Amino acid sequence: MNKYILSLFILVILSLDLANGQQKQPGTFVAGDKEFLLNNKPITIRAGELHYSRIPKAYWDHRIKLAKAMGMNTICIYLFWNYHEMEQGVFDFSGEKDVAEFVRLIQANGMYCILRPGPYVCAEWDMGGLPWWLLKKDDLKVRRKSDQFFMDRVKVYLKEAAKQLAPLQIQNGGPIIMVQVENEYGTWGDDQKYMEIMRDNIREVGFDKAQLLRCDWSSNFHRYKLDGAVNALNFGAGSNIDDQFRKFKEMNPTSPLMCGEYWTGWFDQWGRPHETRDVKSFIGSLKDMMDRKISFSLYMAHGGTSFGQWAGANAPAYAPTTSSYDYNSPIDEGGNPTDKFYAIRNLLKNYLNEGEILPEIPQNPEKTITIPAIEFKQTANIFDNLPAAQQSETVKPMEYFNQGWGSIIYRKQIPASKTKQKLIIKDVHDWATVYINGKIVGKLDRRRGENTVELPALKSKSRLDILVEGMGRVNYGEAIIDRKGITDKVLLSDGKTETELKNWEVYNLPVNYEFQTKAKFQAKAAKGPAWYKATFNLNETGYTYLNMSTWGKGMVWVNGHNLGRFWKIGPTQTLCIPGCFLKKGTNEIIVLDIDKPTATSIAGLNHAILDVIGKDDSQQRKPAKSLNLNGVNAVIAGTIPAGSGWKSIDLEEPVTGRYFCFEALNAQNANDNSSSIAEFEIIGEDGKAISSINWKVVFVDSEETTKAANGADKLFDIQESIIWQTKIGDKTNHPHQIVIDMGKEVKVKGFRILPRSDKSTKGMVKDYRFFLEKKAFKFQ
Ligand code: GLA
Repeated sequence: MNKYILSLFILVILSLDLANGQQKQPGTFVAGDKEFLLNNKPITIRAGELHYSRIPKAYWDHRIKLAKAMGMNTICIYLFWNYHEMEQGVFDFSGEKDVAEFVRLIQANGMYCILRPGPYVCAEWDMGGLPWWLLKKDDLKVRRKSDQFFMDRVKVYLKEAAKQLAPLQIQNGGPIIMVQVENEYGTWGDDQKYMEIMRDNIREVGFDKAQLLRCDWSSNFHRYKLDGAVNALNFGAGSNIDDQFRKFKEMNPTSPLMCGEYWTGWFDQWGRPHETRDVKSFIGSLKDMMDRKISFSLYMAHGGTSFGQWAGANAPAYAPTTSSYDYNSPIDEGGNPTDKFYAIRNLLKNYLNEGEILPEIPQNPEKTITIPAIEFKQTANIFDNLPAAQQSETVKPMEYFNQGWGSIIYRKQIPASKTKQKLIIKDVHDWATVYINGKIVGKLDRRRGENTVELPALKSKSRLDILVEGMGRVNYGEAIIDRKGITDKVLLSDGKTETELKNWEVYNLPVNYEFQTKAKFQAKAAKGPAWYKATFNLNETGYTYLNMSTWGKGMVWVNGHNLGRFWKIGPTQTLCIPGCFLKKGTNEIIVLDIDKPTATSIAGLNHAILDVIGKDDSQQRKPAKSLNLNGVNAVIAGTIPAGSGWKSIDLEEPVTGRYFCFEALNAQNANDNSSSIAEFEIIGEDGKAISSINWKVVFVDSEETTKAANGADKLFDIQESIIWQTKIGDKTNHPHQIVIDMGKEVKVKGFRILPRSDKSTKGMVKDYRFFLEKKAFKFQ
């Protein structure tokens, strides 16, 4: 090539790179002595988390730019294994799933990237990012080295991930400065060897140069060690920063300090109040971090939407997450800056490096539009449009019928019966409607532990249908092995004997768009669970929020895009349609409602409704009666020392019981009549916390379930930042009592209690009594 043309060519390439803000020169990033070093210079990481899977590709660049304008210099991302390998062995990194393109955009915006490839990520994402097809293996164990199948599949996935992203490590000229190993492993286990294998996997597949990272909580980071990885701590808005890092600094005196996830808000769960975190306390702790030069990553900078079936769930108690992942984060679901955004930008502009200036806030590429009410004339009943049946001797969860998500129907004929009978379903995952000859006889909701329906007397042989909808798979804690449909068996009881029902016809109702279009739609009113179809015309496109508040429960597809789940119980009442899912002219909408709408029209609003709790038909916990402790002796009574952190209380002798009552007699502050507890653990014979997976709250005299999601089950939800507290403003005085059924008898050595860890001390328990009984407590 002619020298002149060659140098012109090089010049063009170079200037293209510069125009994009890219520097493709290899660089370095390491955790040095008490500070991070980027190209040998100290840097405080100001990261914001974005999930490419929760933002349409059309807006990736805008959201990255917004994060930069908020004051971020880095974008933190999870990689979602199950999003890329929906079928075993079939990987997809194209189009909306082109994560390498997302990372290149980060670089084009002159920012750095922290990559968190899992394999487990949590993230309120179905099964915490693990693929559903793993569940086809009967004895599956995840996040354990003893399951070779799991370990092998992890390696296959990581190799594919590395093909996409290893070239984008900073040492190769890309923006990736750190790669995280696993996710908050300390909340799950202490198997150091497992973590070492995961670390080595990441290095072997090609992330051999990047600085490794791990993240945990101040209460559990010490449960395992991981040489070669710098350790970040995760905590929520309003945390006391010095408390959070105290023990960590003692144990890691030379480590740079970083908050791996500083929770800007929190996720919403169906049937529970909308979560918010106020700007002031959020900013307070962020400022505390900046003043101490502590690096951070805001989780989430922008939450977006868990489209389709991707929203996960928490347990115990089973609590599915809503499809809106607005998260009360600084950038709202539709990509607009909120008050929190401006407060962060205002704060961070005081902490910039020399010469650094915050860019202008970019315009949202989409406007917000409204859509007049869409009327649905075309319907198709589910029961008239069933796919071919599969025969099965026993009921089995949907994974065994090769179905990942959606609903499933179990059908069989049952004999006549002169008397009423009970149908016991073990277990419903997650929401079931039971029909006899097409008529509803009951609804069961896993969130409430419901499993029994009363059947009427049957004159003749009758058709039993059980329609079960799977909601999000548990993404956190040991309940993560969460198959959908009916997980064990169905029993028919006449009050004397229980008979297991066998020989079923099974119908699979998956969530893919093609399946929803197969039904024969007709212009008549629907009966029972049904699809509804309509078209609507638009002159302009933009973000809009479908108001689903008159509908029952189900999913919506617009122009083939699955928008996610709706459920009348709220708190989310809208489904977000990003403008790029719409088109000028005719658009198609299909709604699947497996419950029952009260009116079948839908309008597109110019705002989301995230905070309206609706009517819930399931059997609520009975209103509080009062507990009668007459003649019951406490197994221990005492005083909990003031201050944060776990407190252990040992019984003199182990005591066996199934039901326990914790009674708060007063609070640390003399005039405080409230109570609050973040976590409560029962210590078994082996000195370890027993599983709380089957615990049920039997009684609580006061709980906050309206103004905030602080119900009594938050005591054992294994989320340390989420507390139980007595009703805000409740004038009732101590004692405050909680009774829990552990589901089986346990030999108890003691218990551990974690007070709230934010800056407030409200409700922190001082004196207590603890009761443990084999038989249920009495109430008046
Ligand atoms: C943890 C996890 C995240 C997410 C948050 C809560 O920190 O690491 O994936 O689940 O909790 O939103």
